[in-house]
Amino acid sequence: MQPGTLWSMGDYASNGDRWAAASRQLAETTVRPGMDVLDIACGPGPFAIAAAQAGARATGLDAAPKLLEVAKRRAGDAGVAVEWIEADMTAVPLGDAAFDLVASAFGCMFAPDPEAMAAELVRLCRSGGRIAVLAWTPESAFGSMGPMVGPYLPGGGGSPIERWTRAESVTEVFAGLPVRLQFAVRTVDVVWDGLDHAVGDITENNPAWLGIRAAVEPTGRWSDLESELRELFAARGRTESGRFVLPVDYLETLAAKD
Ligand SMILES: C[S@@+](CC[C@H](N)C(=O)[O-])C[C@H]1O[C@@H](n2cnc3c(N)ncnc32)[C@H](O)[C@@H]1O
Repeated sequence: MQPGTLWSMGDYASNGDRWAAASRQLAETTVRPGMDVLDIACGPGPFAIAAAQAGARATGLDAAPKLLEVAKRRAGDAGVAVEWIEADMTAVPLGDAAFDLVASAFGCMFAPDPEAMAAELVRLCRSGGRIAVLAWTPESAFGSMGPMVGPYLPGGGGSPIERWTRAESVTEVFAGLPVRLQFAVRTVDVVWDGLDHAVGDITENNPAWLGIRAAVEPTGRWSDLESELRELFAARGRTESGRFVLPVDYLETLAAKD
């Protein structure tokens, strides 16, 4: 399935709002007024919109037209101008060195060829500019989903996403490119109305999980996988004032381009 079709399934916009604080935090620390900023795989646009609110000339790029429609509406509601581009992030139809900051929050990690994706990020960034990538750490509740799901999938596990989740493998992904890397692990608290709501929201709204469900249901093992997801969340989260709070760690990679 094409990424634009997959990510238009379900309701990623409301799903992703639960961890949009990570994008806002990144914008706060990296965006300055007057910068040219590109948000790669922007989805409903939390980073691009925060960048525009911080005074940048912001562009958001994504393959999913449905999410770009949400992004446009939200930018309008926020009263900021953002240029939205529907395109594939692995071959961005923009010139070299056009941006001071090229960022991707939980987006470029889906590229099938991480090294080619890193080269594309570096191509788009000006000398003296920065690249920022967010990806769930392997030990986190979201990062643990890959190895959990792998054995249920007919083709088995292993995914290019994992390459963006540890400092060591990100260093390999950027090897040979003119960048200096810095890493930080941060945490976002993802909040739902309860554990049932958390499991339902992920399995019914998240497009990646809808894809997983479509692949696993015919094998008759979907309810086992759903139970494992519930156990994972229950073990990692806590109930607080009647709400379910799941702290999720992510790796922030900052690459300064020489
Ligand atoms: C987990 S969402 C992240 C969205 C947003 N950055 C956020 O933080 O909420 C992943 C995004 O990657 C986009 N995506 C996946 N593959 C893509 C591709 N090949 N080209 C462009 N966008 C892609 C999806 O459409 C989706 O919006």
